Amino acid sequence: MKRLGGESSVSAAVVRFALAGLVAVALVGVASFLLMRNIGNTEATDNASKLNRVVGIGVVQPRLTEALLRGDPEALERFDRLMKRTVLRDEVIRVKLWDADGRIIYSDEPRLIGDTFELGDEELETLAEGTADAEVSDLSQPENRFDTGFGKLLEAYSRVSGPEGEPLLFETYQRYSSITSSGNSLWLAFAPALVIGLVLLYLVQLPLATSLARRVRERDRERVRLLERAVDASDRERRRIAGDLHDGAVQDLAGVSLALDAAARRMGERDPEAADSLRRGAEQTRGSVRSLRNLLVEIYPPSLQRAGLRSALEDLLAPISARGIETELDFEPELALDFESEALVFRITQEALRNVVKHAVAGRVAVAVAGVERGTELTVADDGRGFDPGATAAGVEPEREGHIGTDLMADLASEAGAELAVDSAPGRGTTVRLLLPR
Ligand SMILES: Nc1ncnc2c1ncn2[C@@H]1O[C@H](COP(=O)(O)OP(=O)(O)OP(=O)(O)O)[C@@H](O)[C@H]1O
Ligand SMILES: [Mg+2]
Repeated sequence: MKRLGGESSVSAAVVRFALAGLVAVALVGVASFLLMRNIGNTEATDNASKLNRVVGIGVVQPRLTEALLRGDPEALERFDRLMKRTVLRDEVIRVKLWDADGRIIYSDEPRLIGDTFELGDEELETLAEGTADAEVSDLSQPENRFDTGFGKLLEAYSRVSGPEGEPLLFETYQRYSSITSSGNSLWLAFAPALVIGLVLLYLVQLPLATSLARRVRERDRERVRLLERAVDASDRERRRIAGDLHDGAVQDLAGVSLALDAAARRMGERDPEAADSLRRGAEQTRGSVRSLRNLLVEIYPPSLQRAGLRSALEDLLAPISARGIETELDFEPELALDFESEALVFRITQEALRNVVKHAVAGRVAVAVAGVERGTELTVADDGRGFDPGATAAGVEPEREGHIGTDLMADLASEAGAELAVDSAPGRGTTVRLLLPR
């Protein structure tokens, strides 16, 4: 019987588990990376906005003069130096100072100074409420036409008060890459701990998975063992019933048919009618013996259904080799026989081997099932003493009438549309040949 679960099924299960674990670890890793980068970006944007506000109030607001607002070149020059010294470094690449009407009072890009643009809702809100804000710059806006070439930019703006207390807008532009890099650096700070943790978790689970898979396989084996034992028990029981029937009822009936034949012969001369009934009785009894023998195979078709024809034939040969007769089985594995054909092959082999044991005094018997030109051929050949098949043909010899094995084989074969031949001669062994045509 095929056993379930081997070492390979355990490793296959563990490999599956390990792969699933890797996928889970990768998913957690990617998710945490995205999450942390997002947190990092938000944080960095916030920082940019705060920085803008601090610079606006602390550096810009105290330096705002009437002259600067008027556009006095000297004042602009001084303010420009201040901006370049304190603000325009590192990642801040552009500064703009607006009045409430959208006129650019100062920018480090001199071409913008004096131009007027329409302020957006958010800028207006900042001017009115004093809230600080930061957002990704829309580089298609005319006021940003000189800000291309730096990649994606983040603009932060806050309200500052002019010399008369009028609200002005202070705007700084920062490379967006500095934002994402701070997002990434947050992730990188956490990454080692996260990766080590995930890998450890993963490694700890592997031995657990292996032992779990082993335990499952053990259970499986136990279950199969129980099943085999149950099947064996039922097998033994069937074999016992079949054996009892064979040694009891079948032998008795065979004896009865012999006795009836003998009685018919004795009656023959004196009362032909009674002799006839006796002969019919004998014939019917033999018919019953045949049916019973067939039934025996159905009750105990040893391993045929369970393990296939080859094993069933091996089972038939095993007790013969146990008697010291050399046996050989030559079974062509590619033959795809239907169950009826397999049953016929089995049955004929069984009957032929019975004769080998009973009559042949053989030293060796060979069973072969092979594909031939016309179909499939079974041969059962022994090297025993042989007999004259012609002389013992049914009905020729009175003694022959108790013997029904050969008749049974012929009946079975012709019922199935197969051909049976018994090839034997005294001293030359016996070969039973069955041809199952295609
Ligand atoms: N392999 C063989 N070697 C030698 N003689 C055989 C062999 N097979 C059959 N015979 C002879 O042919 C006879 C008829 O065989 P058959 O199988 O029909 O009857 P049986 O074996 O005697 O009885 P039954 O099969 O009914 O138990 C046997 O009695 C035996 O003499
Ligand atoms: Mg026989």
